[in-house]
Amino acid sequence: MAKVIILSGAGISAESGISTFRDEDGLWENHNIEDICTSGCLDFNRENTIKFYDMLRVNLKDKEPNHAHKVVAQLKNKYPNEIAIITQNVDDMFERAGCKDILHLHGFLQELKCEKCNSILNIEYEEQFEKHENCPNCNNLLRPNIVFFGENAPKYEDMYKEFDDCEVFVVIGTSGAVIYTDMFLNPQIKLSILNNLQESQFINDSVYSKVLYKKATLAIDEIASDIEKYLEFNLISSYK
Ligand code: APR
Repeated sequence: MAKVIILSGAGISAESGISTFRDEDGLWENHNIEDICTSGCLDFNRENTIKFYDMLRVNLKDKEPNHAHKVVAQLKNKYPNEIAIITQNVDDMFERAGCKDILHLHGFLQELKCEKCNSILNIEYEEQFEKHENCPNCNNLLRPNIVFFGENAPKYEDMYKEFDDCEVFVVIGTSGAVIYTDMFLNPQIKLSILNNLQESQFINDSVYSKVLYKKATLAIDEIASDIEKYLEFNLISSYK
């Protein structure tokens, strides 16, 4: 399991022009979570739900990864076995920054999933509505491959396992409203870094070794330097 975990939320993609959820003018300011992101919404509100994710998916096409995504991708590619990239985001900015093996906890916007056989169909930046309604495999209904509130999030098990050997925990751009990040801070964690724009009611920033309240693109170089120093020191000391 990884020595370093970088856990991100919507804030890391904000500077790519992708809306966060709970910031001012965030997605949940303008849409009702109950109607389009809660278990059962595809039963009572299917058309609006599919059109909501179609809007997000189509809008993703002209977005670009920002400096934060690119530095994280470089770190992951330099230390593939030592660093785990875990994100709550469903956008493809890390992938487009060249990052591999990203753990998307809440699904992936480009994908549709069959409600019956669970097969996955990647439609990139296309709309699903009236174009991709039925599974090519079993002909049952397709849905956005997004985890709604109240639904199972199986990838969380993979996240918890990653923490078995974690010594450096970095949190970038999440309010902690869904994943209570403080709970991961155990004595094994030697260095913990929190980067958000501002304090969050869901996070106790006093438990982190370093807190950076600034844009992710302005914090990421310092974060990367801290991670590299830690890993290089540990790699050297492991040879002594
Ligand atoms: N740089 C760094 N942090 C930023 C930036 C930025 N440019 N812009 C915003 N942030 C921070 C805010 O300070 C806030 O703490 O990003 C966080 C965004 O919080 P949320 O909007 O709550 O997004 P997130 O934490 O990812 O939401 C978690 O909730 O709605 C569900 O499934 C959805 O994955 C999402 C989950």
